[in-house]
Amino acid sequence: MSRWIDIGPAADLHFHPGAPVLAGGRWLAVFPLGDGWRAIDNACPHAGAPLCDGTLRDGKVVCAMHCWEFDLATGACDVGPQWNVPVHAVREIDGHLEVELPDG
Ligand code: FES
Repeated sequence: MSRWIDIGPAADLHFHPGAPVLAGGRWLAVFPLGDGWRAIDNACPHAGAPLCDGTLRDGKVVCAMHCWEFDLATGACDVGPQWNVPVHAVREIDGHLEVELPDG
């Protein structure tokens, strides 16, 4: 089961390139892409750097601290699957973005 959390209008988020968002008690990094948005957990699993501050390249975010890469579609990490990050769907309803989180 999952739930959708309203994170407000996209215009209110500060993208650089991702926007840090607290949703359901969880810090996420929301990224604007050509076909919509993507959200992943914000803390890099290596040493905790905020992935919202990374660099976007070919559908991936490159962590600003040690350059590990995470695919924004799958959460896959280039270093190994044990470092993958959770990916969350994002949708727009009436001008507000909503992010899908697991229940609990
Ligand atoms: S903290 Fe992200 S790669 Fe090290």
